[in-house]
Amino acid sequence: MPYLIITLLLLSPCSYFHVLMAQALMSHYKVNPITRWISHKNKSRYHGLLQLVGGVMVLLGGLGKFSQKDVHFNTWHGRFGVAATFGCAASIVGGLVNFYQPKIVLKKLPPSELRFRHNVFGLLTFTLGMVAIYLGYYSKFFTRHVDNEFIPALMLTTTLVYFLTIIGPTGSLLTKLKYRRQKQQPQ
Ligand code: HEM
Repeated sequence: MPYLIITLLLLSPCSYFHVLMAQALMSHYKVNPITRWISHKNKSRYHGLLQLVGGVMVLLGGLGKFSQKDVHFNTWHGRFGVAATFGCAASIVGGLVNFYQPKIVLKKLPPSELRFRHNVFGLLTFTLGMVAIYLGYYSKFFTRHVDNEFIPALMLTTTLVYFLTIIGPTGSLLTKLKYRRQKQQPQ
């Protein structure tokens, strides 16, 4: 049982990024069959819930890795993984600020700017996490314990999941960028 829990904790960043985060990022996507019928507010609730559940898994997985050995940041997989873990914590805070829009924050930034920044940093965090997973396929763990003929299939899956997931948030970011530019132009 302890082994199962430890394995789940160690694998959780990987499974979270692939499944939960991908689904969470697609929740505002117009053609998502699960969320297309619900209001924008409820899409955000669904998105936030998935990100919170998965985010906790990432942070626990990250903590598990930190407590495992003395040397960190010695591989590119590790460096990207750590950056993604911090990005994940920051995105959770940014998402909550975006959802609740506290007055103190609105005094400094308008809601459109909060949405824009959360979108940019969210995409960046997802990219870091997916790069970390991809680099993980070159690690000793994978090359030793996983059938080497199976690894290219995993790489392809990660690449496909990445590109299919970012379609919605990238489109949404481009719309926000257009709006931002229009606002900045002198009338
Ligand atoms: C790791 C954590 C998170 C990441 C990477 C992330 C990423 C993103 C991205 C990329 C978008 C843009 C999606 C699109 O427009 O198609 C988005 C939207 C949004 N997120 Fe998050 N998010 C995270 C956590 C949260 C949390 C915890 C909440 C709290 C409810 C939240 C609330 C929102 C809201 C309200 C929007 C809609 C903003 C809008 O109207 O454009 N997010 N998120």
